[in-house]
Amino acid sequence: MTQSDRRYHITTFGCQMNKADSERMAGILEDMGFAWSESPDDANVILYNTCTIRDNAEQKVYSYLGRQAKRKQNEPDLTIVVAGCVAQQEGEALLRRVPEVDLVMGPQHANRLRDLLEDVMQGSQVVATESVHIMEDITKPRRDSAVTAWVNVIYGCNERCTYCVVPNVRGVEQSRTPEAIRAEMELLGQQGFKEVTLLGQNIDAYGRDLPGSKADGQHLHTLTDLLYVVHDVPGIERIRFATSHPRYFTERLIRACHELPKVCEHFHIPFQSGDNDVLKAMARGYTREKYLRIIDTVRRYMPDAAISADAIVGFPGETEAQFENTLSLVEAVGFDQLNTAAYSPRPGTPAALWDNQLSEEVKGDRLQRLNHLVSTKAGERSLRYTNRLEEVLVEDQNPKNPAQVMGRTRSNRLTFFDGDIQSLKGSLVTVRITEVRPFSLTGDVVAATASEAMALTH
Ligand code: SAH
Ligand code: SF4
Ligand code: F3S
Repeated sequence: MTQSDRRYHITTFGCQMNKADSERMAGILEDMGFAWSESPDDANVILYNTCTIRDNAEQKVYSYLGRQAKRKQNEPDLTIVVAGCVAQQEGEALLRRVPEVDLVMGPQHANRLRDLLEDVMQGSQVVATESVHIMEDITKPRRDSAVTAWVNVIYGCNERCTYCVVPNVRGVEQSRTPEAIRAEMELLGQQGFKEVTLLGQNIDAYGRDLPGSKADGQHLHTLTDLLYVVHDVPGIERIRFATSHPRYFTERLIRACHELPKVCEHFHIPFQSGDNDVLKAMARGYTREKYLRIIDTVRRYMPDAAISADAIVGFPGETEAQFENTLSLVEAVGFDQLNTAAYSPRPGTPAALWDNQLSEEVKGDRLQRLNHLVSTKAGERSLRYTNRLEEVLVEDQNPKNPAQVMGRTRSNRLTFFDGDIQSLKGSLVTVRITEVRPFSLTGDVVAATASEAMALTH
């Protein structure tokens, strides 16, 4: 392979964890001398970072792969890598299904991409899915944004929700040390990043696997402690975290979010179902009442906080009345955003084997009814922004209108306004909201600097 044909392309499916892993793998490839290729068809190394959370996510991967496998018949030098959660789930079986694949690597191996690719370059087909201790990342990620960044704080998940493949494919919880997390954030601050989202599948479990985390009264490693460790990193103006599990969402954490000015008033706390029997069958470990209490506590400290969540409809055995409990919970909470999905049976999960599966028709119908309610409620929630002054962190140009820029409010609402991206990118701007839609806002800039904004609000 000559220098000029070292081009790579990564297509990423799935959640923020996969996006963060892809950025690290891109960093490794660039370090190896590969250059980014926008089109997969011009790349010599093509990497699919895959998701298997639902069957349709998995099937999408096979259709993309099929196309590149065909291309490889004419271009034998093409290297095809399957990383991420489908890779972990399928392992060797993936090679049997698509023999053109060169490298199958689970999510725990993302930081090892260089070594694995070097083995491939020697001519072997490689499968890396054994469970490993995730090495501290020494590469420089190639981050998609210059303004906002992901920072992993805990990998894996020790929960056993009966519908979920994540523990099978992401392995057991492994927390990074507070020192490593803070060091990464300091570097981000120096590089001009303004916002960090701390990431974990079950971020509230942060620290419970770290040495010295047993409550000795002195040395507690929890997400709350971590927020205090990182909150004053210079340059970083906003901190978010995801995903929260209601079981571990404590009042101490809520109080910390309220006390620490950089922590944004937006919480992503999936509830999955509003019915206690369904929650029990899902093995979620909390009740509807506990969930509602958490939301009340959040709103007691931060009345305007935005709440988003995930929910599943059509879990095995879910009755119409149980589904209506999900609707009534959505009605009661008034989510700013809700990711909804029809239950999809997944290999290696308990619920997939139960004999009380619902028809696709029932699931589809419930999904549609829930989505309708969600956008109505989100529309109602958006109304409160009308005429308000909001702090927006400018991330990019509006792809649909180059005269506008876009960014997010602290509450995570996507906001558009007229402005020049060259001069505004990365700045915190005060915007008066003039138009509201269920999931986005439009406004006019009233102050482009913090001191101008202070003058307005005082
Ligand atoms: N760790 C997070 C969720 C990770 S998976 C949590 O505990 O909430 C992201 C979302 O995918 C889940 O919240 C759930 O709503 C959905 N999901 C997971 N498994 C699913 C399945 N088998 N069928 C449908 N949706 C599923
Ligand atoms: Fe899956 Fe449950 Fe872990 Fe979330 S907490 S990743 S839903 S097993
Ligand atoms: Fe999908 Fe894996 Fe994330 S299954 S949702 S990419 S953890």
